[in-house]
Amino acid sequence: MNPDMIPLAGVIGRPIVHSRSPQLHGYWLKSMGLPGHYIPMEVAAEDLREVLRTLPKMGFVGVNVTIPHKEAILEIADLVTDRATVIGAANTLIFRNDGKIHADNTDGYGFIENLKQNAPNWDPTAGPTALLGAGGAARAVISALLDAGVPEIVISNRTRARADKLHDDFGRRVRVVEWVQAGNAIEDAATVVNTTSLGMLGKPELRVPLDGLSKHQVVTDIVYNPLKTNLLLEAEKAGATVVDGLGMLLHQAVPGFERWFGKRPEVTAEARAAALA
Ligand code: ATR
Repeated sequence: MNPDMIPLAGVIGRPIVHSRSPQLHGYWLKSMGLPGHYIPMEVAAEDLREVLRTLPKMGFVGVNVTIPHKEAILEIADLVTDRATVIGAANTLIFRNDGKIHADNTDGYGFIENLKQNAPNWDPTAGPTALLGAGGAARAVISALLDAGVPEIVISNRTRARADKLHDDFGRRVRVVEWVQAGNAIEDAATVVNTTSLGMLGKPELRVPLDGLSKHQVVTDIVYNPLKTNLLLEAEKAGATVVDGLGMLLHQAVPGFERWFGKRPEVTAEARAAALA
């Protein structure tokens, strides 16, 4: 890229209008006084390859990739990090000077940093994690939790076969129980994570027994709209340490911003407010 050009980045998805990333990156650029723009871009699957080959020629230094392109991007990228390969999806692309597209997945990193920031006493090794769900988000969270040293992850998912696949892919520290056993897994856990879309605005509530929640637990949800899901409200009532899902979104954005614009942004209350604006 011509060094005099203003660096461009953005987020590619379809639909893209609900993405919070433009507000967040825009806030960071402005508050840090950095030159740059971050642009939402709606792109159809059949155009993805061509768009990604064109953007670097227009001054783009990289992009975030979101639903529905996070898996397909691995076929297009020239270099894929180990963690993106394990997860089977990428969310952050770097357009390198040599023309190669480098793909990484920072969702698991964002998940862990959110817990570290908002539950400073969280100890991943304290006991098993109960994890609800077995979709794409679950893969990123499981990979990061295993790296963080959790002794065991007990997954329950409506569709048992998807959870069994995670056991096959991630190994013996991942155990599967039936969806109807989720309440027992929660009761026995030190950490409880919802990675399903249940509880999200417009989706059904998460309906698993929550009476096993206790004050010794750290409970988190990847859903951030609403910020306080039913799971988190019940966890709060039980006296647990509760961490909402917005922080994961904020923290997963940090590595990309730093690579594209050259400075590491901070996840502050102001950044959080900007993402919600
Ligand atoms: P993502 O990539 O965001 O994780 P996904 O792959 O569609 O999205 O996964 C969504 C998760 O929410 C899955 O675990 C899904 O369960 P299934 O594997 O049985 O589909 C879970 N989920 C969605 N709607 C659900 C519902 N009504 N009841 C129970 N689980 C549900």
